[in-house]
Amino acid sequence: MVTIAQFSDIHIGQDHEGDFGARAYRRAEQVMAYLNALPGPLDAVLVTGDLADHGLSAEYEQVAKVLASRHPVLTCPGNHDRREAYREVLLGEAPTAGPVNRRHELPGADLLMLDSSIPGRDDGLLDDETLAWLDARLADGRQELPALVAFHHPPAELHLPYVDPIRQFGEERLTEVLARHPRVAALLCGHAHTGAATTLAGLPVLVAPGVVSTVSLACEGTADVTFDQPPMLVLHVLDDAGRLTTHFRAVVPA
Ligand SMILES: [Fe+2]
Ligand SMILES: [Fe+2]
Repeated sequence: MVTIAQFSDIHIGQDHEGDFGARAYRRAEQVMAYLNALPGPLDAVLVTGDLADHGLSAEYEQVAKVLASRHPVLTCPGNHDRREAYREVLLGEAPTAGPVNRRHELPGADLLMLDSSIPGRDDGLLDDETLAWLDARLADGRQELPALVAFHHPPAELHLPYVDPIRQFGEERLTEVLARHPRVAALLCGHAHTGAATTLAGLPVLVAPGVVSTVSLACEGTADVTFDQPPMLVLHVLDDAGRLTTHFRAVVPA
């Protein structure tokens, strides 16, 4: 059994009503304090993109600081991130511009974290290099174990006018790859700033809530983005049969 916490969209550096990023940092800090105080272990903490609000090196230094944890913390970039600074500061690598794709071997599952960003744009796409990388890693990984595939942009409509135009497009190309690898248990993403669940080609698509803000549905009758809901996270449990169960938690300061 694998237990993973996931949250998304901390947007470190986002200026909210002139606070120069203090609110975004405080909310990320609250989420990490909750996870660091858990009495039990986590196999990983996933943060699915939009780590920095403007992709600045100084912001990534704050990201590294706030995400420091006793748990393994794994990330992928979002549309607000910049690959070069992300690589240099968070990964300690040369600041190159190609997609940031990573495989992590967890004790009971392979986790593949993909770069769905398109430099300079807000919508998303898994480019040819990334899809070929995914196909190869799923084929050369531990076939007896389930796999989880994570990226920033949801590859499906969520009925959110604010987000649907900038979702991940070209999902039929992803579906083709997934059809060759039945060990993929679920797709994990963020970007929508709302906890949501949908499907793609029969697979669960779990959208982690945004920490910095919440995007509303039309029936909620509010502005597209609201700032008064508490930060949230999800806890995923992947059982030995490869079935994923997801629990949602709001993080309210003590
Ligand atoms: Fe975001
Ligand atoms: Fe995003």
